[in-house]
Amino acid sequence: MYILGINTGLNSSAVIMKDNKVVFGIQEERLSRIKNQPGFPGLAIKAGLETLGIGIGDISHVCIGGKSSKVALSRQDDLGKFHQRYGEVKGKWFGETESVFAKFAKKGFRKLASMGKENDREKFLEDYLDELGITGKTQRYDHHICHAASAYYGLAGGGKEKYLVFSMDGGGDASTSAVFIGHDGKLDQIASSDAFSPACLYAHITYILGFLPHEHEYKLMGLAPYAQPKYAEVARDILYQFIGFDPDNPLVFTNTPEYSDVRNSRGAAKQRLVEDLFKSVLNLRFDTLAAGLQMLAEEVAVQWIKAGIEKTGIRKVLLSGGFFMNVKANKLISELPGVEFVNCFPSCGDETNAFGAAFLGYQQFKGDGSPAVEFKDFCLGVDGAYDIEQAKGKYTDKVVFRRSPNVNDEIVEMLVERKIVARCSGKMEFGARALGNRSILASPDDIRIINKINAAIKKRDFWMPFAPAILREKAETLINIPKSLKASGSPYMMFTFQAIPEKSDKFLAGIHQSDKTARAQIVDKDIYPDFHDIIAKFDKMTGIPSVLNTSFNLHGYPIVLGTCDAVDVFLNSELDVLVVGDYVITRTPANNANLS
Ligand SMILES: [Fe+2]
Repeated sequence: MYILGINTGLNSSAVIMKDNKVVFGIQEERLSRIKNQPGFPGLAIKAGLETLGIGIGDISHVCIGGKSSKVALSRQDDLGKFHQRYGEVKGKWFGETESVFAKFAKKGFRKLASMGKENDREKFLEDYLDELGITGKTQRYDHHICHAASAYYGLAGGGKEKYLVFSMDGGGDASTSAVFIGHDGKLDQIASSDAFSPACLYAHITYILGFLPHEHEYKLMGLAPYAQPKYAEVARDILYQFIGFDPDNPLVFTNTPEYSDVRNSRGAAKQRLVEDLFKSVLNLRFDTLAAGLQMLAEEVAVQWIKAGIEKTGIRKVLLSGGFFMNVKANKLISELPGVEFVNCFPSCGDETNAFGAAFLGYQQFKGDGSPAVEFKDFCLGVDGAYDIEQAKGKYTDKVVFRRSPNVNDEIVEMLVERKIVARCSGKMEFGARALGNRSILASPDDIRIINKINAAIKKRDFWMPFAPAILREKAETLINIPKSLKASGSPYMMFTFQAIPEKSDKFLAGIHQSDKTARAQIVDKDIYPDFHDIIAKFDKMTGIPSVLNTSFNLHGYPIVLGTCDAVDVFLNSELDVLVVGDYVITRTPANNANLS
């Protein structure tokens, strides 16, 4: 039985299960090359079928994350809602016909906007499904059940044991949060809300600070530790006027009395909230505002989880939905004494609703006695070397392809020599994080490497930290792992950890420079045998069981897909060397001269 799961919202995606295992998964953005590409994941489905060598006729069930038939066509459609709301505010105050945000956005995103599927303007989900000839096999599932299902079936196997499953985001199928109890292969919803959630607030402040909502929230989280707490508290208190809990049920978010009529929808009531929000934060310093927002997000998340445990007595917690991309809030949850076990579905934004939908479909259509969903490896996309022969032809004058008999040894030698190595090997990771297969790797013990990587390729915002990948068996020599995370080992970079002070020099370039936390990927030999081998060899030579790991992409673009993409980025950067599979790829002397 093959099940196809799809997400047609923001960051659209497709996954394919063969019986109880996910055998393929990819986001549309990796193929369209437009970051967070929304819409019908036609390219992703095609890539999945081709990779597996099957046809659409082999798919038994198509499971769709979310109930809406409306298919967003471009990132601009999503941003347009923000431009419109804040444009109206500015218009009312200053008589402007167009918001300053929209003016910036038009310049910055003209290319992106024009790359929407203009010819598909009037199409709905049914039209796409008709074209593929799969209308009769479809099943739709509620947005938040999909979030919860990704975590419950994916991370807990859907067994007998009880788990408390939380989902929160900026909105999907009219809800912004929900709480479930997962038990005996079922998910029972015990609370939900359509109020203006902390995730909605985060998106709006992201926009107000001039970043892209539903994409750059993590930059505010990274900025927050630099602000002074006493000022951040002032900002937090201002923001609390927009977020509340139901006094009769602390599992339910409500709007504060002033905005009681606001729902997660358009309309005059929400516009009043937006105007008041903008007015109230107008004179707050950018870092103070980011920190106040993060402080609120952390406090509210902790309060919510504690309330769930108190109400149900269940101490095993699973997290899902875009809000929980907030790895700092997740850290505080993992450290709560009442939390016995916690895990968060990797890359828990809407892209992973394709997993949730597929898992729900499997649960619905599997036979009695069929095995539980098996999920471990998040490297589910195309192989990095799938187009190596094409790349050899295309870049023959620009780079040299050399096959290495011991490529991992060579990578380690180069890392020890302080070279920056780009690695495009094995199956591509699903989701926001590079987990070693589409990664830029460097030695983590020299802070100067941050400037070197930024100059060579990443051009990151100057306050944003890089992250370390650490061997599981030696992780506790570098970071403090709370009890609640010992069972899962946090292999997907969904939690931050406190660096052990006397060891932080060993991986200084991989930790946040202000609060000394690390968003570590804990590298398990079973899940990542090749990447584990590289770090273990690096440890043998240096005594450091960690390498710096950042995603292999040009700033603002999706992670590279295969060899052609990788060579393109390599040639447009000052990365020292590129590795694809067992090929070591270097510039020809002429191209090296051009760079220097
Ligand atoms: Fe969502």
